[in-house]
Amino acid sequence: MREAQGKTIYLKDYQPPVFIIDETHLCFQLYEDKTLVSSRLVFRRNPQANAGAPNELVLDGNDLALEKVSLDGNVLDPSSYTVTQESLVIPQVPDSFTLECETRIMPQDNTSLEGLYKSRVMFCTQCEPEGFRKITYYLDRPDVLSSFTTRIEADKNLYPVLLSNGNKTDSGDLAEDRHWVTWEDPFKKPSYLFALVAGNLKSVDDNFTTCSGRKVHLQIFVEEKDLDKCDFAMSSLKKAMKWDEDVYGREYDLDIFMIVAVDDFNMGAMENKGLNIFNSSCVLANPATSTDQAFQRIEGIVAHEYFHNWSGNRVTCRDWFQLRLKEGFTVYRDAEFSADMGSRAVNRIEEVGFLRTVQFAEDAGPMAHSVRPESYMEISNFYTVTIYEKGAEVVRMQANLLGPEKFRQGTDLYFERFDGKAVTTEDFVKTMEEVSGLDLDQFRRWYFQAGTPMLEVTGDYQEETNSFVLTVTQSCKPTPSQPLKEPFYIPLRTGLLNPAGESIVLEVEGHEHDPATDDLVLHVSEAQQDFVFKNVSERPVPVLLRGFSAPVKLHYPYSRDELMLLMQHEKDGYARWEASQQLSLLVLDELIVAYQKNSREKNVDERIVAAFDSVLDAALTDSATDKAMLANLLLLPSESYLAELTDVVDVDAIHFVREFLRRYLADKLESKFLAVYEACNSAEEYVFNANEVARRYLKNTVLNYLACLDKPEYWALIKGQYQSANNMTDSSAALRAVLNNSSEQSKSLRDELINGFYETWKDESLVVEQWFSMQCATSSPDNLVNVKSLMAHPAFDIKNPNKVRSVIGAFCHNNAVGFHQLDGSGYKFLADQVIALNIINPQIASRLLTPLTRLKKYDPQRQEMMRAALKRILDTPQLSRDVFEVVSKSLQ
Ligand code: TRP
Ligand code: ZN
Repeated sequence: MREAQGKTIYLKDYQPPVFIIDETHLCFQLYEDKTLVSSRLVFRRNPQANAGAPNELVLDGNDLALEKVSLDGNVLDPSSYTVTQESLVIPQVPDSFTLECETRIMPQDNTSLEGLYKSRVMFCTQCEPEGFRKITYYLDRPDVLSSFTTRIEADKNLYPVLLSNGNKTDSGDLAEDRHWVTWEDPFKKPSYLFALVAGNLKSVDDNFTTCSGRKVHLQIFVEEKDLDKCDFAMSSLKKAMKWDEDVYGREYDLDIFMIVAVDDFNMGAMENKGLNIFNSSCVLANPATSTDQAFQRIEGIVAHEYFHNWSGNRVTCRDWFQLRLKEGFTVYRDAEFSADMGSRAVNRIEEVGFLRTVQFAEDAGPMAHSVRPESYMEISNFYTVTIYEKGAEVVRMQANLLGPEKFRQGTDLYFERFDGKAVTTEDFVKTMEEVSGLDLDQFRRWYFQAGTPMLEVTGDYQEETNSFVLTVTQSCKPTPSQPLKEPFYIPLRTGLLNPAGESIVLEVEGHEHDPATDDLVLHVSEAQQDFVFKNVSERPVPVLLRGFSAPVKLHYPYSRDELMLLMQHEKDGYARWEASQQLSLLVLDELIVAYQKNSREKNVDERIVAAFDSVLDAALTDSATDKAMLANLLLLPSESYLAELTDVVDVDAIHFVREFLRRYLADKLESKFLAVYEACNSAEEYVFNANEVARRYLKNTVLNYLACLDKPEYWALIKGQYQSANNMTDSSAALRAVLNNSSEQSKSLRDELINGFYETWKDESLVVEQWFSMQCATSSPDNLVNVKSLMAHPAFDIKNPNKVRSVIGAFCHNNAVGFHQLDGSGYKFLADQVIALNIINPQIASRLLTPLTRLKKYDPQRQEMMRAALKRILDTPQLSRDVFEVVSKSLQ
């Protein structure tokens, strides 16, 4: 294991490699008790290397047993090289040479799930970011691009299917019931894109004809029992392939594209060249076992990994500081794909919801980093929401600034110019500048400065001059090692509505734009700026940040009536939803203050009831509006968003007040909620399409309101839905509805559904994971007992990341009142789990830690206990680099 020793890697220290590897030839002999890896690597001194760099060869290697090494055919004596924990060093090598290594590894014992490991009955690999060095000695860095051939030998009965990147070139039999297969990847690639799979797998096959008429063979490999869960991913893949041709002009390059589903996987999926490996939860689905949400996620992830073939594989990253180059761009691409496949507005709302709870929190915590970081200790810790989601927002802003045509010109030029190269963020931005003529100098601060900019906006209407002045002030709080921030360039998409809710044609002093437009982008670039709107005949209501045009926080002192007007009349889906969130926030804030004062009076502003009433009316009468949009308008801000917005989080106040308001609304509007439920209920066969997903979403949203009323007739309704459901979306929603209600009256139904659900689905591990996570994520103060007993359940396995996430992760991340109990039990629990997982799987241990890193957001008493839990982790022997980095930064 890589141990702490807190060494920091800096971008400023980047040096081109002294050697490059033109050819990589690998042979794997897979056995149950060991795997033998032989490599033949063809090296050449890098013409771009610093002239003064000596011919010393330093190869990365981790946990390897080196059996033999030879250079140009001569076996090297151990005295002529040095092996350390993390490297093989040969002090003097020629300018070009061939190196052969034989190493022995133990995939069957590899629980870190990096490098070559066993997922139950199959062998598979995960090499990004630095897993290849756990397979063989190599220059394991993304700027070393090599051609690869792979030979795999294994038992024929246990592992009839042997896969690697590229095209299969040959196969044959060996003695002792073994066989071999060879693969050749014609595209040069860095080691992080290498993959190998061996198992008793079956495939679903299809094909796709590319725009130039080439037929590509598509295969999804799974265990036989899962063959009935591949169709959706296959059709998503074909849609993604077509979309990338239509929207980006990108054609697939190999004759074969394979996806493999594995049960033990650290993240969602991996874009290995021609052989994507997926967490089974991100690829397998059918209506009986998977929710609509799972289908949507699969569609997005299949597309994401496929899109990497260009944004990541053909054009790759020079070093891991450039990670956003492939991830931010690819997330932007998959988000646009999903928007085109479903509802654009609802997709955007969901992205924003995620970004501003999870990413904004990261940006405000001890691990805050810019989209292009300057340093790291463990790169695995930097696969973050900042790199992925904020990275995508930064690409989105550029796409919007350039407009669709120029942006397409820019991406065409980027793919053409850098094809087969390992490049930097700067190469991307320069290309965009070049095609557009824009100066993105100030814009680049989005890459370099961490933290979320805050916009304070005020509006002043001057009757005498018929003008409306928006004053915009921007600021950004300090983040670790960045105390002072320069102003960002912020595209602020703005409109004005008159008191009747109609859009006003905009004229802004000094801003050039289409004279007839009612929507324009204000260029916010200074610490403080005035924007003067002319010819405004009545006091308007501004609509700010339409489409969430920049990843910022924004405050404008709206009155509640103004927010109601926006909810009624604003056309932009995001802005309309945001108005509803703001209105709820104002009401919740008042209630939280009352709760904190122990006041018995709980006055709810009736305007929120009126606002919900009109949304429910729209659901009943207006068949044109998107039901998923309406469902979103009925959601109160999440507990995590409420926490994000306060300086010192009062977990109990947030939880109880939000629950109180939910019940209050349910009570006041009970008959309407029921009417919407009935209008949305349908016994028809399950279909996955945008309309049907939206209908189920709205139905299950109102069901949750009814469930909090504690009435026998609604328990009957829930039970009825559970029993008659013909799909997982509806049956799990029924289960969730009873789980979210902890009353005594519903206890017997709760137990009945929990047990019944498990009995029905105990053989489907993905469903059991949902069953775990629904129970553990249930927001309730005393849920830790359940969590602990579920950890003793036979289906729980601490070595399986999906199980860890669905039990420990679900509790610590989603159940604030349970996790933050004042006796410190939640913190102690998480520290214990992190300490156990530190040895088993450092990547998972480190990710699980996130809730403890937010200690500065809590009261002194909780902070003290969180600090103690972190210190206890820090004092653990054999701390991994992954965990050490997060814990030590959190304690600073
Ligand atoms: N590159 C992958 C993606 O975003 C994700 C990934 C990075 C990953 N590191 C990983 C997956 C480690 C599994 C394990 O598409
Ligand atoms: Zn990715």
